[in-house]
Amino acid sequence: MSFPFTILLPLVFLILSPYFVSFTHSKVARLGISPTTRPTETVDASASTSDLKFFYYDQILDHFSFTPESYQTFQQRYAVDSKHWAGANASAPILAFLGEEAWLEVDLHDVGFFQDNGPRLKALCVYIEHRYYGMSMPFGSAKEALKNATTLGYLNAAQALADYAAILVHVKEKYSAKHSPIIVVGASYGGMLAAWFRLKYPHIALGALASSAPLLYFEDTRPKYGYYHVITNVFKETSERCYKTIRKSWREIDRVAAKSNGLLILSKKFRTCAPLSRSFDIKDFLDSIYAEAVQFKGNPGDWVATLCNAIDNPPNRKNYVLDRILLTC
Ligand SMILES: *[C@@H]1O[C@H](CO)[C@@H](O)[C@H](O)[C@H]1NC(C)=O
Ligand SMILES: *[C@@H]1O[C@H](CO)[C@@H](O)[C@H](O)[C@H]1NC(C)=O
Repeated sequence: MSFPFTILLPLVFLILSPYFVSFTHSKVARLGISPTTRPTETVDASASTSDLKFFYYDQILDHFSFTPESYQTFQQRYAVDSKHWAGANASAPILAFLGEEAWLEVDLHDVGFFQDNGPRLKALCVYIEHRYYGMSMPFGSAKEALKNATTLGYLNAAQALADYAAILVHVKEKYSAKHSPIIVVGASYGGMLAAWFRLKYPHIALGALASSAPLLYFEDTRPKYGYYHVITNVFKETSERCYKTIRKSWREIDRVAAKSNGLLILSKKFRTCAPLSRSFDIKDFLDSIYAEAVQFKGNPGDWVATLCNAIDNPPNRKNYVLDRILLTC
């Protein structure tokens, strides 16, 4: 995963096959609403979304204790689009997007619900960035914020919900919108937050929309490998042969890796930028490709079909399992 700090989210570990079992410590559920985790630093969201105004809120680091450190603050970013809002006098609603584990820009560009329903409901659209993501970094920088268990201890869902409560109360004051009902919206992990927000702060949000939110998907509450069963089944339904090739490939990667120059062979075969220091990295990469092909995009069947077509029909009739797998990269 490109997001080392997502491992702090209290999410279930999901693994594909017995071959992965020994590596589970570094596998996390993929919950982002899109594989894009980090836009380039130069992205100017306001350029492409000109109706948005960006603000920073002086957020309290720790909402739940009273030690001197708790009163530290950080700048939390949010954006408001008031173009279609019918105003406080009309008690027009507020749609609030609760950010998930991503930069705010990811939501601004990917959330069609607000573009569709904001104008229809004449709503004030608010988008809030999750703490420890994007520009909303405590301790002054990502480097400091992600430094160790002490600084990372403030990254949890309860704190994030309290952040959203504080900002939404602030927005209502700022827009004198006392009677405007708030509907919180989130997707994936953000959807879990939206549902929990409505439960925990019912006096702030009148309703919640939790889109594709794995609300009950915690370790020991669902089949352990449920996520990967779904991924596997989609591949199986697309092409039994493709599924079998992928299944075989994990063992083959291990077999090659165990040779004395095995990692070098794998590095060359997969044309890695730097020599592999462990076979897990190549498996992890392949796993991401397969899983994201199923999870993301409007029509995952097509993506999986494309991958399987490449695996099933290698050019030059190259039949060696790793040559076939290579075609997905
Ligand atoms: C809202 O109502 C108040 C009080 O009736 C009035 O003074 C104000 O001009 C109204 N604002 C708008 C934007 O209509
Ligand atoms: C984390 O770093 C800070 C500042 O260097 C230090 O005070 C704190 O004790 C560290 N915490 C842990 C758990 O290492």
